[in-house]
Amino acid sequence: MTDKLLIMNAAQVITMKGHSDRPAIQGEMAELDIIENGAVYIEDGKIAAVGPTDEISSNYSSNQRIDASGKVVTPGLIDPHTHLVHAGTRENEYAMRLNGKTYMEIMESGGGIHATTRATQKASHEMLYEQSKKRLDQFLLHGVTTVEAKSGYGLTLEHEIKQLEVAHQLHRDHPVDLISTFMGAHAIPMAEKGDPDPFVDRVIHEMIPEVAKRKLATFNDVFCERGVFTPEQSRRILEAGKQHGLMPKIHADEIEPYEGAELAASVGAVSADHLLKASEKGIKALAEGGVVGVLLPGTAFFLMAEFAEARKMIEAGIPIALSTDANPGSSPTISLPFIMNLGCLKMGMTPEEVLSATTINAAHAIGCAREAGSLEIGKKADVTIFNVPNYLTLSYQYGMNHVDTVIKSGKPVVI
Ligand code: NIG
Ligand code: FE
Repeated sequence: MTDKLLIMNAAQVITMKGHSDRPAIQGEMAELDIIENGAVYIEDGKIAAVGPTDEISSNYSSNQRIDASGKVVTPGLIDPHTHLVHAGTRENEYAMRLNGKTYMEIMESGGGIHATTRATQKASHEMLYEQSKKRLDQFLLHGVTTVEAKSGYGLTLEHEIKQLEVAHQLHRDHPVDLISTFMGAHAIPMAEKGDPDPFVDRVIHEMIPEVAKRKLATFNDVFCERGVFTPEQSRRILEAGKQHGLMPKIHADEIEPYEGAELAASVGAVSADHLLKASEKGIKALAEGGVVGVLLPGTAFFLMAEFAEARKMIEAGIPIALSTDANPGSSPTISLPFIMNLGCLKMGMTPEEVLSATTINAAHAIGCAREAGSLEIGKKADVTIFNVPNYLTLSYQYGMNHVDTVIKSGKPVVI
């Protein structure tokens, strides 16, 4: 029998329709397309109809119904930037930072990304899988149905591949969809600090070709930052990825202005992420290049840094997405709804814009806007139901988990 599910009587269905071909910019980010007393009809895991409850319930017969009275229905949330697969935690460094040490000082003395790399290298595939699965379960409980997941705590071919294989296994086993990014260029191994070129060469000649050959990643990312990878090294790495079919992404201008945004535009990156210190020129280049700006206010919050200038970027015409940056050092959270709260309260985004930034624009940031990110006929039936009477309450009652039900490819997975 065909699976036919009807979600009905929702106070508001937020469809986000109309932006599957290109990301929403400027005023388009406020176009939620709200249906009051709405319904979503799902057949065989796909969205088959969306509209007012009266109309949908009289036109379609279902064998399963969810009554969403008094609740808000949105597309399943999408997190377009996570470091999901890693071992261990770094609360010791949090305490050090509260005592005045900086993130970069900790990293330069062998902690930071290096500490998580040591833990991840030591962990078996099974251990990594178990730890990462727990985080993925939490994402789902917070309404997220697709996450991007980066490698970058292996820093050798063997361990980078281990991380990517864990991500693939989770994608197969878990309701949440994973989209993988290779990020071998996350840090220069401690032992090679003084002479980084051989490592850059290994990323280019050894890791990228093998990751691409095994089809373990869609994207290729690099941490372009003073003291990590220079813009020139980053360009070489991103161009090499392109040669092997890996689309470029970049951690850009996080701690200092370093022409990362300019580089993102010039290599045709799909997204430029962080952008706390992006220059005027960089902002203009991103807007002209149609590069999605993935902002990570959880990282600014947790590193006690200044927030990215979201308003300026939206006004300049950059399509903005939001993400947790979930990782053990600079943003140990999986709560995308809390990131939405920060988007409003700390970056001046509107409640409408943060919804767009965590659904359709987030989908564009990871190349899945044709299948996900909005409630439109033919798309995967990834749906989140929030126990709030209207979408404004999501950004108003902050720091709480309002998720009521999550439906993944037509199946209720959180009830
Ligand atoms: O996006 N900036 C570089 N990478 C991560 C942090 C990783 C870590 O500290 O473990 C980020 O913030
Ligand atoms: Fe990151």
